[in-house]
Amino acid sequence: MEPGDEFIASNRLYGGSVTQFGKTFKKFDWQVRFVDVDEPENVQKALTPKTKAVFTESLANPGGVVSDLEALAKIAREAGVPLIVDNTLATPYLCRPIEWGTDLIVHSTTKFLTGNGTVIGGGVVDSGRFDWAQNDKFGGLTQPEPAYHGLTFYESFGDMAYTTHAHAVGLRDLGPTMAPMNAFLTLLGLETLSLRMERHGQNAQKIAEFLEAHDEVAWVSYAGLKSSPYHALAKKYLGGSGGALFTFGVKGGYEAGVKVVESCELLSHLANIGDTRSLILHPASTTHRQLTDEQRDAAGAGPEVIRLSIGLETVEDIIADLDQALETAAQVTNNAAE
Ligand SMILES: Cc1ncc(COP(=O)(O)O)c(C=O)c1O
Repeated sequence: MEPGDEFIASNRLYGGSVTQFGKTFKKFDWQVRFVDVDEPENVQKALTPKTKAVFTESLANPGGVVSDLEALAKIAREAGVPLIVDNTLATPYLCRPIEWGTDLIVHSTTKFLTGNGTVIGGGVVDSGRFDWAQNDKFGGLTQPEPAYHGLTFYESFGDMAYTTHAHAVGLRDLGPTMAPMNAFLTLLGLETLSLRMERHGQNAQKIAEFLEAHDEVAWVSYAGLKSSPYHALAKKYLGGSGGALFTFGVKGGYEAGVKVVESCELLSHLANIGDTRSLILHPASTTHRQLTDEQRDAAGAGPEVIRLSIGLETVEDIIADLDQALETAAQVTNNAAE
């Protein structure tokens, strides 16, 4: 990206990415065009000669939404720009975006890859397949790099050009290098990724089914449920799983939402995700409280919404805790109404 360049991003990304792309990147004069990628033609329509990349999440935070990676990759390929996929929520256990034509993958390793909420980190995976010389958009890799002795990275390193540039120039000049202890903890976590993701997914599926049938619950947004509009995409890209993170709506609205979180004894009230422990959050009264009602609704953080990041505990214990919290909240809100 250079000043004046553009990229296209899904309008349903993790909120921090929306802020980074829409506000902070603006100061670098990088323009993002947010589109609803549920209709991949929207990406096609947003392409301009200045477009440098297409960005989406395989499974979007806060869950429930799955991107059609194959369709998006085709549009990006035809436009001569890379498809970049944030695979944080799905992890490589559920989704392997390169097999669907993705060029670059990013992860917050803070979440499931490390797996226990101890380390902040990130990673970039380069497919090595993108042809950076097919047009004149990627001069940083195809022209002599003044920041590195005039080396031409694509000519010198071929399919390792992006990765080598990221190390030699990006890490060196921008500094996002991980501390050794944090790298060690991340690698330790990675060793059990498959076991953890299997259990996260099994637990989340049972909990989503339990909530969908619960009298105090208005709706559940989980791609692992047959009722989800994203279930077919979850089958194609995520082995049918909806991952560990999802939202549901409580019938009692804002007050009930606050009360459910307060009443949980096993689930921890935390904004982190991807921990071994189950976490619960009422976005409208916490992470999204500074937004207007309209902004909250647009972000999927309406008054009734509760977000769960399901952990590895015995599923019956998590269900029992949610059940008692929903009943307590219903009693309190019913009494207040009478
Ligand atoms: C999908 C996704 N991408 C990126 C991030 C950013 O993660 P970090 O805070 O580790 O940079 C998050 C954090 O919640 C996330 O959920």
